[in-house]
This record gives sequence, C-alpha cells and structure tokens, in this order.
Amino acid sequence: MLQDAQGLDVSTNSPETVAAIDTFVDQFLGYGLHADAILKGVEADPDCAIANAYAAALYMFLENAEAPQLARPYLEKALAGCDDVTERERMNVEAVAAWVDGRFDDAIRCHEEIAEHCPRDICSVKFGQYHLFNRGDSEGMLRLAEMTFMANDDNPYMHGMLAFGLEQCHRLDEAEAAARTATEMQRREPWAHHAVAHVMITQGRTDEGIAWMESLSDTWEDCNSFMITHNWWHLALFYMDKGVNAKALELYDSRVWGVWKEYSQDQIGAISLLWRLELAGCDVGDRWQDVADYVQVRTKEHIEPFLDLQYIYCLARAGRADKVDEMLTSMRTFAGGASSFVATAWREVALPAAEGFVAYANGDIAAARHKLESVHNRMQEIGGSHAQRDLFDQTWINVLMRTGSCGEAAAILEDRIAFRPSVAPPYEQLADAYAGAGDAAKAEAVRARAAELAA
Ligand SMILES: [Fe+2]
Repeated sequence: MLQDAQGLDVSTNSPETVAAIDTFVDQFLGYGLHADAILKGVEADPDCAIANAYAAALYMFLENAEAPQLARPYLEKALAGCDDVTERERMNVEAVAAWVDGRFDDAIRCHEEIAEHCPRDICSVKFGQYHLFNRGDSEGMLRLAEMTFMANDDNPYMHGMLAFGLEQCHRLDEAEAAARTATEMQRREPWAHHAVAHVMITQGRTDEGIAWMESLSDTWEDCNSFMITHNWWHLALFYMDKGVNAKALELYDSRVWGVWKEYSQDQIGAISLLWRLELAGCDVGDRWQDVADYVQVRTKEHIEPFLDLQYIYCLARAGRADKVDEMLTSMRTFAGGASSFVATAWREVALPAAEGFVAYANGDIAAARHKLESVHNRMQEIGGSHAQRDLFDQTWINVLMRTGSCGEAAAILEDRIAFRPSVAPPYEQLADAYAGAGDAAKAEAVRARAAELAA
C-alpha cells in the first residue's frame, strides 16, 4: 500500500504506478495533454484497480462509439483487482463501471459517496461534476464541490470547480471570487479562467472578458484540445457581443476549429460558433462542410443529447440529408429503448428539438416552431452550460420573429437586455422585433440605443 499526492491510500507496491496516478489526476484537473500517463501506470502494475479504472475513464472521455470497447479491458482488470482494495478505490471502480454501462445515476451516486467519506479524492469530484454537467444538474455540481471544498482548499483546481458550480447556480459574485482565488494560487488554471468568462458574459462585461481571457491565453498552450478551443470559443463570444463578428470568425479559423477535428468537444465548439455567427447574420462560407466531414460518422452514437443536437444541425446545414435521416432514425430507436432519467431527456426533449433544429436548418421555420414549441424551455434537461444552451434560446427568438410572433420575441429580448444592458447586438434584434410588431417609435428608439452602444 502506497499513498498518492493527495495522501490517499493506493493498493499497489509500484511507485511508478502511483507517480502515473498523480500525473493523471494533475493533468485531468488541469486539462493537460498528458493524462495518458496513466497507461504507463497500468503497465507498471497491471493489477492495480484504480489505475485501471482511470485508464478506462481516459478512453470514455473520447466520447465516441469506440470508447466503451476501448475502456472495457481496463475496466475488467479494475473489477478483477477489487478484492483487496480500499473502499474509496472500490467505489471509483464501481463509478467507472456504471459510466461504461451508461448508468449515469449510479456513477453520480458513487462520486457523492466518495465525496462524503473521502473528500480528499478531488479526482472523483471532477468525474462527478462531469456527469452532473451532462444531465444539466447545476445544483448537484455545486453540492459536490461544497462537500469537498474544505478538504482541498489548498488546491487551485478545487477553487475552479467550486467557481463553475457557483456560476451554473447563478451565484456570480461568489463564482468570480473563487475563480480569481484559483488563478492567484496558480496562474495556469484554465477552468477557473473559463468560470470567470462565464460570469462576465452573463453580466455583459464584454471588454473586461476579452481583457481577462486574452491576458491569460498564453497559459492555455499546453492544454488539451477541449480546453484550449473552448476558452477561445468563449473569447469569440465576447467579440460577437462587441459586434465584431469578423474577429469571431477569424478566431474560429485560427483557434476554435482545427486542433483535434475528430474530437467531440472540438466539433461542438465549432458547430455552435458557426450556428451563432449565422444567427447574427454572418456568412460563414463553406465552413459547415469540413466539420460535417468529421461529424458524419457519429449518426448512430448517441453519447449525450446535447452533442447529438449540434451534430445533426451541422449535418443539416452542410446539406447531408441522407446522414440527417440516418441520424434521426437512429435517435428515435435509441430514445425508444432508453430507460429512466436518460429516456425522458432523449424522448421528450432531445428528439423533438433535433427535429425542430433540422427543420430550422433547412429553412422550414413553421415546422421548426411546431417542434420547438414544447421543448424550448426544457433544454437544461439535456445538459451543457448556460452559455452553451443560450444558442438554443437565440434560435427560438429567431423562430418567433420569422413566424409572426415579434411581440413575443420582443418580450424575451427585453428580459435578456435587462440582464446585459451594455451589450449592443440584442438591441438591434429588439428593434427588429418592435418593427415587426408594428411599433416603429420603439424600434427607432432602441436602434438609436444600439448605435450608441456600438459607438
Ligand atoms: Fe464554457
């Protein structure tokens, strides 16, 4: 029995395996490039249960159809090695087993139990937050961070995880404070930088957001493709709030798309940025085609509903009608066979939303409205962050405007502007909505405000 860097018992006699576990945890929490060090740890002690569980998790994070097959041999070794391990290790193995089987509720329950009995296991907190994020459970993310915070308050990554949980629960001031503490403790804490970006975009602090993210962007160079592209994606959103869509498109080409084109999270960052740019009236040229070339292998995966909605929209925008049909058919079968919580999200939200977004992508706005009517306010159930899901709200507003409900669109835009009164582009939309609703005077006043802000 040895101890890892957190002071946790590890059932192995191999110092190499423990060193590899420490590297894995550090790289995983810091979104580094070398989480695959865990594979060396497994080589050094092929029977170490928790090292095998982490190796299985490493493959599950691929978020593709092959991931469970790649993970399973490691999971089987982990399960076989569980006879003589600590309860913490056993629970971690059980959590990864549940993940590989698609039993996300069980995985979350394991991570909550570990948090209660062994709060120093910070890696387990991160796994738990990942699953909770995917089901849109903001309170759960925060609860897990709060349960384990005091045991890890010497660790900048703990402050970053708390910050994002707070932000997703709309406790913005506390979130920013926690993220700033994390960044003071360790300048390279990309998840904390990201939490501040979420706070600032929610509050419409556009120039501050750009300054904050650009001043720290040098520290993202050794981040994995998700973190580097996602943080640049956030920067692109700030530029869009500034009305500088050309800069956002430039960031798309130079930073957001192209690091690891096969990776799920890189793809959804690219898709959602193109989608937003088009909603803002920007011509994105033939960029959908390149993304669709990588996405079209995913029509039968169904890893997460949040991913599927963006994949299918990309395929529709790229004109891959056969792939869209194939994916919708497969989604219907999958949703029909799914069980418990996952089934509700897939059947009641993801499937109608997918049909609605495909119709929207194809320009059939009346059909889009019909499909999205009952689900546009339930999108949290399919996971993703508030900032990521904002795209769906923007699309719904556009649908309302184009189906003769400009008054309804104006009411939503007024609420959004109340939250972010210093951001110019929504005023332009509101002016269009007022004009569409026949209120020329209001439209003119709001357009003048938009021009003022843009200036
Ligand atoms: Fe984000």
